[in-house]
Amino acid sequence: MWIRNAWYVAAWMHELEAGRILARTIIDRPVALYRTGDGAVVALEDRCCHRFAPLTMGRLEGDNLRCMYHGLKFAPDGRCIEIPGQPRIPQSAFVRRFPTAVVGSWVWIWMGDATADRDAIPPSVALDDPAYRLRSGQIDYAAHYLLIDDNLLDLSHLSFVHEKTLGLDMPQWADSRPRVAPIERGLRMQRWLRNHRPRGFMKKLGERLDVWNSYDFLFPGIFLQRTAFYPLGTAEASGGREPQDAPLFYRLDEQAVTPVSSRASRYFYAAGARAADIDPDRLDRLFAVTETAFQEDKAIIEAQQKLIDLEPERQMLPTSLDAGPTQFRRMVETLLAAA
Ligand code: FES
Ligand SMILES: [Fe+2]
Repeated sequence: MWIRNAWYVAAWMHELEAGRILARTIIDRPVALYRTGDGAVVALEDRCCHRFAPLTMGRLEGDNLRCMYHGLKFAPDGRCIEIPGQPRIPQSAFVRRFPTAVVGSWVWIWMGDATADRDAIPPSVALDDPAYRLRSGQIDYAAHYLLIDDNLLDLSHLSFVHEKTLGLDMPQWADSRPRVAPIERGLRMQRWLRNHRPRGFMKKLGERLDVWNSYDFLFPGIFLQRTAFYPLGTAEASGGREPQDAPLFYRLDEQAVTPVSSRASRYFYAAGARAADIDPDRLDRLFAVTETAFQEDKAIIEAQQKLIDLEPERQMLPTSLDAGPTQFRRMVETLLAAA
């Protein structure tokens, strides 16, 4: 069962090249995405209303999409505007059009029947924002999206899954607990990671640093994270609260988990830093480590999914690490009950 009345990330904007039809499945619903000549994003159900051939096997004719099984042609609003050899077009000849919006560099799609509220889309930094240097990517998971959400809501795993990548020399991820606060359709997670020993090019910032980590995690799996590095002692001086000073280094991570089906998800990610803090070479290194880490997540989550499916009735053991995942799943239950 899915929450239909929600915005989902369907694609990166740069995936929608002119003249191309992109096939995506979101909450078990196949969608055909393309751009019109004036740049508007169209999302149509990927199922011709005639005999159910996929429209992604069709072709674009200007702003319209022709099904290449028997030739029905559809306008960007989903209305059929041509049936070969049949002058009268019945009113029922249309495919569903889903509302879309572009915010940051993500193409968002609204899968529900209720009116789409564009203001509900969280702001994200665009990949070409001059204040940052960012790289982006995406991976497919053979796992339910909530297992990926659990992973992002409990960063203690950095000390173990990413022992040799993102969690390098940071037992603080597992040893400290974030403050968890509810926000609209999600949670805000914040904490200090004290006395961190930086590696690589970060060593020039100091031998030991305090790190402020803050992220918002929103339904269905939107992860907007800022990680700010400060001189040792800043956590103490801030009384454990959010620092007000400018950091030495400011890292940005933005990710979106999109459910495809009950055992498939797509993970969109961007990572980088404030433009003033990083040059392109170092960004390449930071991003390479990050992508290696995401493969580590994928390996353990897909393996976890297989074990869950072997004996789905078995109960997990709750620990104090699970505050984020537990609260978020409760929120999802509430949304599902209202759906
Ligand atoms: S199935 Fe599309 S025109 Fe027949
Ligand atoms: Fe991870």
